[in-house]
Amino acid sequence: MKTTSAELIISAAKDHQFPGGPYPEVALSGRSNVGKSSFINTLLTRKGLARTSQRPGKTQTLNFYFINDRFHFVDVPGYGYAKVSKSEREAWGRTMESYFEKREQLKGVVQLIDARHKPTVDDEMMYDWLKHHDLPVIIVATKADKISKGKWDKHIKQIREGLQVDKEDPVILFSSETAYGKDRAWKEITQLLFS
Ligand code: GTP
Ligand code: MG
Repeated sequence: MKTTSAELIISAAKDHQFPGGPYPEVALSGRSNVGKSSFINTLLTRKGLARTSQRPGKTQTLNFYFINDRFHFVDVPGYGYAKVSKSEREAWGRTMESYFEKREQLKGVVQLIDARHKPTVDDEMMYDWLKHHDLPVIIVATKADKISKGKWDKHIKQIREGLQVDKEDPVILFSSETAYGKDRAWKEITQLLFS
């Protein structure tokens, strides 16, 4: 898909700040530092739109991006980030839960997993939780450029087995460095949004 417009419309800390309107949306979820913001920038071909950082936990609000006057991408704070207090984490847990459970515009979730490593317990819990709530999931395995091509299949298999991914759910190998997997990711996301 060609991006004609893309803009961060709100960084929401509470659910009353979520934008209204009929626009369908897809949320990006995954561990801190997995590459969610980079994924958004690569898909939209907008380098600095979603802020990226080597320091994990940078994104601490639900960031709503409005694309082509037609849909939203929602950058969700990374899970598994230990350096916030327990009460902060619990408050976040509640905001996220209410988002994923109640948000009517939400058509599905892109769950990002670091392609280099076995899925973590947090990754497994997140996938199970999304499936439990009947949310369609697209798995994107990030940082493919850091694995040699000969090992790609092995790493995809490791993710499918680790998460016990449903057969019909796509696992897309992706790199924000090379844009590998971008067309496939767009195809799956467009299907979620508009079918
Ligand atoms: P939080 O907002 O903290 O949850 O992190 P995030 O998931 O948004 O990660 P972000 O996009 O900020 O990327 C984290 C780091 O990984 C940055 O240094 C990125 O440049 C790097 N990175 C992201 N995607 C890729 C990729 O595909 N390949 C490589 N080599 N590095 C990547
Ligand atoms: Mg981020």
